[in-house]
Amino acid sequence: MDGLHKFVVVSSRLPVDRTEGPDGESEWQPSPGGLVSALEPVMRESGGVWIGWTGDAGPAPGPFEVDGLALVGMGLSAEQVRDYYEGFCNATLWPLYHDVIAPPEFHRRWWDAYVTVNRSFAQAAVAQAAPGATIWVHDYQLQLVPQMVREQRSDVRIGFFNHIPFPGYEIFAQLPWRRQVVLGLLGADLLGFQRRADAVNFLRACRRAAGLATRGAAIRVGDREVRAAAFPISIDAAGLEQIARQETVRKRAAEIRLALDEPDTVLLGIDRLDYTKGIPVRLRAYGELLREGRLGPRVALVQVASPSRERVGAYRVLRDEVEQTVSRINGEYAEVGSTPVQYLHQSYPREEMAALYLAADVMLVTSLRDGMNLVAKEYVACRYDESGALVLSEFTGAADELTGAFLVNPHDIEGLKDAIVRAATISPADARRRMRLMRKRVCEHDVAYWARSFLDTLAHAQDHGLVAVP
Ligand code: F6P
Repeated sequence: MDGLHKFVVVSSRLPVDRTEGPDGESEWQPSPGGLVSALEPVMRESGGVWIGWTGDAGPAPGPFEVDGLALVGMGLSAEQVRDYYEGFCNATLWPLYHDVIAPPEFHRRWWDAYVTVNRSFAQAAVAQAAPGATIWVHDYQLQLVPQMVREQRSDVRIGFFNHIPFPGYEIFAQLPWRRQVVLGLLGADLLGFQRRADAVNFLRACRRAAGLATRGAAIRVGDREVRAAAFPISIDAAGLEQIARQETVRKRAAEIRLALDEPDTVLLGIDRLDYTKGIPVRLRAYGELLREGRLGPRVALVQVASPSRERVGAYRVLRDEVEQTVSRINGEYAEVGSTPVQYLHQSYPREEMAALYLAADVMLVTSLRDGMNLVAKEYVACRYDESGALVLSEFTGAADELTGAFLVNPHDIEGLKDAIVRAATISPADARRRMRLMRKRVCEHDVAYWARSFLDTLAHAQDHGLVAVP
């Protein structure tokens, strides 16, 4: 079956959100992610199509268009949402790939659902791809898709990018289906990872779980050679900076500081409410700093924790822990009219996020494990006046690139506290030097650069999947 599209993107979710129109009909709004802004030009140029899930249980909406973008909506039944999305994706793979911060659960029923859903995504990709098309599959939710496509279509070129970490073999080996996952991924011609260490971990998994030979970045799979390498993802830095420069956004940043009662120091955390993000350690460090008075009396922490995966057990436990800790800190240190932690369990549009980034003196990114962490890059992109400081966990992909940050081990509370104090008391000249360094990296290596370098490397793969060893 040959479809019409020369470029096919396959990701867990579609780059659009469903909203309800005035007459109760579904309406689709483009979701303003970096991925879509990077791929949109390629999609338009090549007449591409994007395949993904709508985010709700229910039948597949099938092909449709939003602002001229061709989309194919996949459907998941309520059981598939439970067993595939909440189960295998987010209670097996997610904790396993994030170094078992939470214990992964292994259930055969969840695995079966993962295979079934991956097969339906692969079928959709096969149906949409024109002869010789390029198919780009994204992330841990769809690791079996490359091989499932290859079995049916030897004419297409297949790329895969893993947005989250790929764990060391001692951890990956726990997965009962480790061999199937490795072989599923190896259907691709090119496998992209966030950090070099992730690619190295994957190469080791190929040797250990599948008994394959590797040489440098290349893996021999029968008569094919597949390549695994790092392509650190980024953001639409220029687009975000443009938003941050808007008069209304700058005014809003000033309003935020005013609403906080003009503190001397505003600390900011913006995360999905996820146990990988290290929100409890951050709160603990902040609470101790308040007790010790090391940040002075006029300090505020704004913590945005956007709701995520709320039906998965570990996320509910985390929410309780975070909310109790926030209440304890506020109970102990608040005064009438000032609250040391502003906790916002909400999601915000890009303009409000940009205003928050502008309002903050210090950005706190304390993930225990994070494939990249785009929030760190967004903060840097918004600080066009080169002020502000970033405290950044060394366990994020971003730590490889943002060398002007105060790098921390988030498990070391004393080290974290010292880094927060140093960032909060930095001299303007040192802040400028560090921020300039980080902005150069983020502006030059933006998401368009990432997409181009991945797709160019993939384009050099030969038609039958033979990729040269570098
Ligand atoms: O980066 C990993 C990821 O799963 C993305 O694919 C997704 O945008 C984000 O985390 C949020 O996850 P979910 O799709 O489960 O809401």
